[in-house]
Amino acid sequence: MRRELRGACGERKERTIMDMRQLTAEGLIACIKKCYPDCTLTQEEIAGMLEIPPEKSLGDYALPCFKLSRVFRKAPPEIAARLCESVKELDLCGKAEAVGGYLNLFLNRENLARGILKTVIEAKGHWGGSEVGKGKTVCLDYSSINIAKRFHIGHLSTTMIGNSLKRIYDFNGYTTVGINHLGDWGTQFGKMICAYKKWGDRETVEKAGVQGMVDLYVRFHKEAETNPELEDEGRAWFKRIEDGDPEAMEIFTWFKEVTLRDAQRVYDLLGVSFDSYAGESFYSDKMEPVIRQLKEDGLLVESQGAQVVDLEAYGMPPALIMRSDGATLYITRDLAAAFYRHNTYHFDKCLYVVAYQQNLHFKQLFKVLDLMGCDWSKGMEHVAFGMVSYEGRALSTREGYVVYLDELLQKAVDKAREIIETKSPNLENKDEVARQVGIGAVVYFDLHNDRMKDIDFRWERALNFDGETGPYVQYTHARCCSVLRKAADLTLSEPDYTAVTDDEAQDVLMSLSRFPETVRKAMESNEPSMITRHTTQLAQAYNKYYFEHRIMEENDPAGTAARLELTRAVKEVIATGLYLIGVEAPERM
Ligand code: ARG
Repeated sequence: MRRELRGACGERKERTIMDMRQLTAEGLIACIKKCYPDCTLTQEEIAGMLEIPPEKSLGDYALPCFKLSRVFRKAPPEIAARLCESVKELDLCGKAEAVGGYLNLFLNRENLARGILKTVIEAKGHWGGSEVGKGKTVCLDYSSINIAKRFHIGHLSTTMIGNSLKRIYDFNGYTTVGINHLGDWGTQFGKMICAYKKWGDRETVEKAGVQGMVDLYVRFHKEAETNPELEDEGRAWFKRIEDGDPEAMEIFTWFKEVTLRDAQRVYDLLGVSFDSYAGESFYSDKMEPVIRQLKEDGLLVESQGAQVVDLEAYGMPPALIMRSDGATLYITRDLAAAFYRHNTYHFDKCLYVVAYQQNLHFKQLFKVLDLMGCDWSKGMEHVAFGMVSYEGRALSTREGYVVYLDELLQKAVDKAREIIETKSPNLENKDEVARQVGIGAVVYFDLHNDRMKDIDFRWERALNFDGETGPYVQYTHARCCSVLRKAADLTLSEPDYTAVTDDEAQDVLMSLSRFPETVRKAMESNEPSMITRHTTQLAQAYNKYYFEHRIMEENDPAGTAARLELTRAVKEVIATGLYLIGVEAPERM
């Protein structure tokens, strides 16, 4: 980074990643200490106080001096006025004004442009990343599909929020462990084997995939209405799974393979992967020690023959750990999984990306671990999210209104292909781009709003090339690439950064400079949508710039060089933003 942007008086180490807020705070704290030598505030505190004014005419950052007035025992306007004089000497400052109790700071645009563009480009795609997670581990439990059920649109959020968070934590130096906690335990698998033995054959199921198993399961329930003995047979088969009987295990394992094979197709389309598929059945032999400890701790009480942990004191219904027949439950397996993850990965954080319908389950889980004295459970968090409806209608398996994910994604690719056909008939790799744009549109749509909000999926919104959509952002990325391609043969001189000091360029630069802040906040609140929105705003700012300015001017090689740097930085940060939410960035569209 260049000296001009250091701002502060005195030395400091070179930083590869520059954060405008920190930099401004650094300059300010130096001024504050000069004016008020007794000041004990830290740079961090000042950075936290800085506000982004609602209007550009009020500056790039504003320091409300009300908070300082208590510390310095001076009226806010007086502090603002005094700091204003001192701040003007900083390189980073273009202009400063004291208005009311506020110190409004306008950054020096040329220095800002130079510093930001250089740093972003030198960061080589790592702008916004950090090493804060170095040496720390995050487990992420996401997607976590159920065996012998088809992957539907309701699984999209857990899969894509989890995938995005994994990328965000990776980007910040954490070691991440992506876990697909498969739903592969329960009496339904006994019933399914029973149905398979009676009416199924391998070839049909192999061919039909998961749907073949679903059909068997449906048939089982139909037949059981008139023939209730089937239920006993189903239970007996599950008992055989529990006992590790070879035949039962063989069929059960094969069911899993078929399900995962189908799911893998969807994961491949979405670009999602996992480090572990340890699901519920993996814990079938790991619950016993947990139950024993619960007993030893005196936490387990009997209730109507079942073993429960009483949570009344915490305003929750009891956590059912073991039924009267000895069967364990979902939460029992989650308890065993928590211990296993703690012992295996020594995680600092363990995130569960699961719909808000399971709020109570996770509250109970965390409470039980807390009661067991597991200090490490403080690092566990339920990352909840809202529901998805489709074209204005709530999904319901019972009413037969389901949208399968493989079909949805295929439709997205087909639709994108049609649009590309009319928009860019000469594009070479249309199939590849259609895949990137179609899938990208769906993923972007899913990660565009706060995760707690319910989503109504609509095609005309997801695939619109003009709104706040995936295709729009991808198109901006491709536009930057195209500009850079055209400029590839130009002989350029040293950039003249005064060429990028206009308001439109400023907006782009500020958006670039604030990107690391957004990434950090997105990580702290496990909210990928912050990155989606920031990336969209960056694309909007660049497009505005693009339409109002010529990037390449023959008689102005130095200005052209600066505008191309701006374009390159935007391209890289858009690519990063899209990557972090799990969307690909095509170079041509
Ligand atoms: N398979 C479960 C479901 O579909 C989600 C599992 C979430 N993860 C967990 N550790 N409980 O509802």
